[in-house]
Amino acid sequence: MSASVQRARTTSSSAYRNLEEMLTAERCIVLDGGVATELERRQGGVTDPDPELWGTWALFRAPQAVLDVHRSYVDAGCNVLSTDTWSILSAPEHELRLGPSSGEAVHWMDVARLGIRLARRAIDEGGRTNDCAVAFAISEEINSPHRRGTLELLSSVFAEEPPDLVLLETLTLVRDPEMFETVERLLETGLPVWLSFRRCRHGVCGVFGQHWGPPEGDLFGRAARRFEDMGVGALMINCLPVDHVPGIISWLRDFTDLPLGVYPNLGHLTGSRWRFDDQIDPAAYADLALSWREEGAQIIGGCCGVTTEHIATMAAAVADTKPGRKRPPLDDRLLGHEPDLTPTEPWRDEQGRVVSPLPFPKLTVDEGVFVPTTGSYLVWKTLFDGDLGRDQTCLDVGCGCGILSVQLALNGAERVHAIDIDDSAVANTLANGFRNGVSDRLTGETVDLYQWGPTERFDLIAASLYQMPVDPYEAPSGHRPLDYWGRNLLDHFIRLLPRLLAPDGIAYVMQLSILGQSQSARLLAEGGLQAKVVDFSFFPFGPLFLQNKSQIDRVEQVSDAYHLRFADEDVMVAYLLEVTRSDDGAHRIDDKELSHDPDSSA
Ligand SMILES: C[S@@+](CC[C@H](N)C(=O)[O-])C[C@H]1O[C@@H](n2cnc3c(N)ncnc32)[C@H](O)[C@@H]1O
Repeated sequence: MSASVQRARTTSSSAYRNLEEMLTAERCIVLDGGVATELERRQGGVTDPDPELWGTWALFRAPQAVLDVHRSYVDAGCNVLSTDTWSILSAPEHELRLGPSSGEAVHWMDVARLGIRLARRAIDEGGRTNDCAVAFAISEEINSPHRRGTLELLSSVFAEEPPDLVLLETLTLVRDPEMFETVERLLETGLPVWLSFRRCRHGVCGVFGQHWGPPEGDLFGRAARRFEDMGVGALMINCLPVDHVPGIISWLRDFTDLPLGVYPNLGHLTGSRWRFDDQIDPAAYADLALSWREEGAQIIGGCCGVTTEHIATMAAAVADTKPGRKRPPLDDRLLGHEPDLTPTEPWRDEQGRVVSPLPFPKLTVDEGVFVPTTGSYLVWKTLFDGDLGRDQTCLDVGCGCGILSVQLALNGAERVHAIDIDDSAVANTLANGFRNGVSDRLTGETVDLYQWGPTERFDLIAASLYQMPVDPYEAPSGHRPLDYWGRNLLDHFIRLLPRLLAPDGIAYVMQLSILGQSQSARLLAEGGLQAKVVDFSFFPFGPLFLQNKSQIDRVEQVSDAYHLRFADEDVMVAYLLEVTRSDDGAHRIDDKELSHDPDSSA
C-alpha cells in the first residue's frame, strides 16, 4: 500500500465508544460464542450444506435462525455480536453454485448487508443499542486480487449499512507484506479493525492444538507492535483449544499496549459436524475465563463450540473483575527443555525386532546405478522379514546398488554372490557391503546374464529384474531379440534357474503384473519348478512405464498381463514369487548341466 493513500478517518459509533470506555474502566468486554456451531446445535445437527461457507450458509437459507442465535447472545450479556459473515469473502466464488434461496436475496453483498442488519436488529430488540456493538466478521486472509476486489466492494456495503467494527479473525501466518496490506485496506474503510489469530505461545496452533511448525521467535509479537502503530483497535487469539491459551496474553503484552483478548474453541470438527466438548461446562469455562483475565485478557468470548450458556455464565463471572498481570510458568519446551523423543516402547515386528526406525542397510546409490523401487523393497522386505539366507550360499541376480545382497549378508549368509551387467552396479554393491560391515561375505562379478554359464548352485537366489514391454517400431534394432513382451530377461533367468538352484534351493523372483502369469508358469513347469506368491505390492507407473504405456496396453490386450487404473493413475501389481523345484523336477538335477551354455532364446 503506497504511503500516499490517505486512510479514512476512523469514526466510532456510540456502541464502539462504549467498548472503549469499558476498556478504560478496566471492565471485561464480552464477545459472543460460536455462531455456526450454535446454528448446528439448535437445528439438531443440521450442518452446512456448503462446507466452505461454514455458518454463512444460514444467511442465505435460514436468516431467522441466525437472528435467534444473535438474540440469545444479546440476552447472555455480550458487548459484541459478530455477524454470521465468517466466510463472506468466499461467497462470491460460491454464489453461482448456491442458486436461488427461499425468497431471500442471494447476492453476496445483499447477504453481507443482511448479516449486519440481523445482528443490529437483535441488539435493538434486546434494548442494548448503545452497549452492544456489531462486529462484521471476516475469516480469511485477503491475499489474492479476487479477494481484494471483494473487500473493496464490501466498503460500499459498510457505507450503506455500517457495522461498529470489522473483525478479521482466525488468521494464521504473518506474511509480510500481504498481512499488513490487508489490514491497511480494512483500516481504509474508516471502521475500527480488530484482529484475531490462531496462535498460542508456541506459534500457529490448529483446532486440535497441533502446531504448524517449530516456535517462531518473536515474529507474532513484532507484528502485534506493528498492528498497534497502524491503528488496529484490538488483538486477540481464537479457534484453538483452551489448554493452549495460557501464556499468550502475558507474552503479547511485552510487545504491545493494544487491548488483548481470547476466544477459544470447545470441541472439534469431525467430518463436517462439530463435536461439542462435554467436559467443560459453563461453570468450568467461566473459571478458565477468570484465569485468562488474571493474565491480562481484556476481551473474552468463545469460538466454535462455545454456547450461549457458556457465554452467559462467563459474562456474569468476569463482570466485576479487573485484568491482571499474571505470567503463567513457561512450559518445558519453551524453556528449551526438549521432551525426550525416545518412545517408551519402540514399535517391534512379530519377531520382536525394533522396526521404528527400520534397521535398513546403509546404502549409497552411485550415479547411473538403478535406484531401488517398489519392486526392490518388496523383495527386500521378504528377505528381512524371514531373516532369510542364514548360513546359505546366495545369488543376487541384477544386484543394482546391492540392496538385496547386503540384506542377505546382514542376515548371516555364508556368502552372497552379486552379479550385474553394469560394472558400476557391482562396484556399488561391494562398497555398500563395506559400509554395512559385511564385505567379507560378499563377492561381485560383472556378468551379462544372456552370456553367463553358471558354474555353481545356490541355496537362495534373489532376482528383481527389468520388465518393460518395448514397441518394436520405436526400439533400435540390435543383435538381441526385441523385447515386445518385456519378458526377455525374466524368461532367460527362469530358464537358467534349474541349473542355478541347489536341490532344496529357493528363488525369490519379482514379477510385475504387466507381464502376465501364464508364460512364467509354462517356463517354470518346463524347468521342473513351481512357484507361489508369497507377497505382492502396488507399483505406480513411473515416467519410463508411462512412456511405454501404449506398448503395455498392446501386451495386455493379447495376453493375461494387466494393471489397475484409479482415476488417472495407472498402478501395477508387483508379485513376489517363491520358486522351488517341483516334486517331479527334483529328480532332473544333473550337475553336468552346469557346463551347458544357457538357452538364450527369449
Ligand atoms: C530392476 S534393477 C534391480 C536392481 C536391484 N536388484 C534392486 O532391486 O534394486 C535390474 C538390474 O539388472 C541389471 N541388468 C540388466 N540387464 C542385465 C543383464 N543382461 N545381465 C545382468 N544384469 C542385468 C541392471 O543393470 C540393474 O542393475
